[in-house]
Amino acid sequence: MFGIPRMKPLAIFLTLLASSLAVPKDLTGQMFVFPVLSNTAHVQLTPNIEKILFNVTICLRFYSDESKLQALFSLATPSANDGLYLYQGPTGGYHFVVGDQLATFLALPNNRNQWNSICATWDSSTGLTQLWVNGAASPKKALLPGGSIAGIPIIALGQDKESYGGTFNTDDAFVGHITDVHMWDHRLSGSKMQCYMNNLPFKAGNFLNWQALEFTMHDKVVLDDKLDDKPCSGDKEDGV
Ligand SMILES: *[C@@H]1O[C@H](CO)[C@@H](O)[C@H](O)[C@H]1NC(C)=O
Repeated sequence: MFGIPRMKPLAIFLTLLASSLAVPKDLTGQMFVFPVLSNTAHVQLTPNIEKILFNVTICLRFYSDESKLQALFSLATPSANDGLYLYQGPTGGYHFVVGDQLATFLALPNNRNQWNSICATWDSSTGLTQLWVNGAASPKKALLPGGSIAGIPIIALGQDKESYGGTFNTDDAFVGHITDVHMWDHRLSGSKMQCYMNNLPFKAGNFLNWQALEFTMHDKVVLDDKLDDKPCSGDKEDGV
């Protein structure tokens, strides 16, 4: 019984109340900026539902000019440090890890200084895994057939934990912008993912939802308005 603080019932009640009151935010039109290379800067996400995951889809957009290994999304569980881990390799290939098993996807679009929309799907029954980037689909590869993602997940954007609850490593750290993060507890069809990639209406994630996101930012991460890459609108209010 060492190490367990003796809390008064009221203190326990207030602690539980505080942790359950984290209010999800609608981040539409915003993005997380990771402006410096760091082994601490990250965004931790709390899922909207608690459940064992079988079929999964993760979608996000990222904007970067780096050519280093970059963690986009990681989900650690007590039994698998890389329960789900999506990252870009130094030469622009993409890598998806499910239950500590790795698949590499080459020759997908990888635009520097532009938004890239990426979705990763996993079907537990067959293990079939597929990445979609900017509308292009990878071949399917198998990871952890018959497996599941169980236990309290620790989800991070921009970093990958060295161990469950452990520290991060600069070698994996992301530098750039990440936005529109969604995750579903099922596999999205190709046409639904095309809607996401083309900025057309789509049903928000039920596991993680950018429009109702519970998150905490750690160290040098900035929540900023999404980079405006629309063409000149001819406004005259700047003068002259
Ligand atoms: C996962 O998806 C497959 C179809 O691709 C389906 O047969 C299976 O029942 C799904 N598993 C769960 C747990 O929903």
